[in-house]
Amino acid sequence: MDYFATSGAASRQRTSCAIVPVYTSGPLAPATRALDDASGGRIRKLIAAGDFDGKKAATLMLTETGISGCARILLVGCGAAEDFDLRRYRVAVGAAVQALSRTKIADAVSYLGADQTATIGAHTQGMQGALVVEAGLYRFTHFKTGRNKSTAPRLKRLGFGVNTRAERNKALAGAGEGSATAEGVNLARELGNLPANVCTPTYLARRAREMARGRGALKVNVLGEPEMRKLKMGSLLSVTAGSREPAKFIVMRYTGAPAGKRPVVLVGKGVTFDTGGISLKPPPNMDEMKFDMCGAASVFGTVEAVCRMRLPINLVGIVPAVENMPGGKATKPGDIVRSMSGQTIEILNTDAEGRLILCDALTYAARFKPSALIDIATLTGACVIALGEHHSGLMSTDDGLAGELLAAGLAVDDVAWRLPLTEDYARQLDSNFADFANVGGRTGGTITAGCFLSKFADGQRWAHLDIAGTAWKGGKEKGASGRPVPLLVQYLKNQV
Ligand code: BES
Ligand code: MN
Ligand code: ZN
Repeated sequence: MDYFATSGAASRQRTSCAIVPVYTSGPLAPATRALDDASGGRIRKLIAAGDFDGKKAATLMLTETGISGCARILLVGCGAAEDFDLRRYRVAVGAAVQALSRTKIADAVSYLGADQTATIGAHTQGMQGALVVEAGLYRFTHFKTGRNKSTAPRLKRLGFGVNTRAERNKALAGAGEGSATAEGVNLARELGNLPANVCTPTYLARRAREMARGRGALKVNVLGEPEMRKLKMGSLLSVTAGSREPAKFIVMRYTGAPAGKRPVVLVGKGVTFDTGGISLKPPPNMDEMKFDMCGAASVFGTVEAVCRMRLPINLVGIVPAVENMPGGKATKPGDIVRSMSGQTIEILNTDAEGRLILCDALTYAARFKPSALIDIATLTGACVIALGEHHSGLMSTDDGLAGELLAAGLAVDDVAWRLPLTEDYARQLDSNFADFANVGGRTGGTITAGCFLSKFADGQRWAHLDIAGTAWKGGKEKGASGRPVPLLVQYLKNQV
């Protein structure tokens, strides 16, 4: 997408489509009024006749505007003007892009949010505008053939109408960051949506290497199973034991700051398919376990966005990638394994496999001396029950880091909610036979999983994001969301 920003009069802007806000009450926004005047009051007449009421996300396309240079006006309902906020802005832009994607319009100028500088601001107008537009244009069409292939959206060039010349630069800078973030979000969605017969650990390793090609700041190293054995990653290897797909341990190192600067390390759960192993999952919705690598996908997406923005930080992305299958060599309930940390684990449920690969990755991560260590995982069904699909679960032993992540999420509308991690929960993992078990019973399942991980992050500034409810949507709109790439990118931007 090509972006520009303009502070000129809306009525004199040459465009195939001007996108303007309409609220449920009060005076018209300046750009809306200017176009209304120039079109002989058409917008006001429509509203007076009750044909458009400004309700949230409603849209109406006006053609034959009578304005030379402005072929169409897209009215977008924004609700009550006084309730406008970041959320409403995103909903409005999303409605506009859906309306545009059903047309052949290739260029447009959006005045959404331009009258709301107190709540939005030009930078956010551009950043969230680009983010929502590019997410809205994303289609997963690789496996559709012939008539099943939907036509690709035509929009190629989008302008942001702002109020001043200074705002123009802010909107444009914001659009650049939003577009880079959107590339990361869409990469994460792409990897998540790919079926598990394509998106294997080997495939992820190849994609990581491809990402580094032509990028001097990004180095990728992939460890195979022999190297993992040498490192004594007994816990990780126990998960891949039943699979014919070789496990891969992917390490991406981005150097945007002097080499001595401690990196942020992201660790993403990369279970390319989770059958549950010998503790086999029931059939309904098991297909959705192709999304069990969305934590890994969010690491890929975040690294991609950071590369595009050339952020002056150091970042390491670690992806333990495995397939969790039953089989003759698969791990059995009751098996005891030794993790890379030396701690032993009694595997009471082979379906609690995410923590078993993450623990060795967290131990490995310590070698980078992280300034912050953050793991991201579709870890527990219990998190979907606790928080639903709106907030990611956040757990941390560091109040400062937890606060920074929560704030980053709020700033970009990719929200998380903190859950407690206390010794009372950790005791649920007690084992008669090993240092601890990999499950802690039915109650507090998200938290006991977090407690398990915390045993491998000793001495680290560590946080854990459980994205089981937020990484993908089920039902009719089934598909990966690309969350929490926006939260992570915002957190990293805040480190600059
Ligand atoms: N990948 C699943 C978690 C999951 C399940 C995410 C459903 C989204 C929807 C994870 O590996 C798992 O199976 N967790 C178990 C843990 C249990 C055995 C303690 C779960 O949540 O049931
Ligand atoms: Mn599982
Ligand atoms: Zn899993």
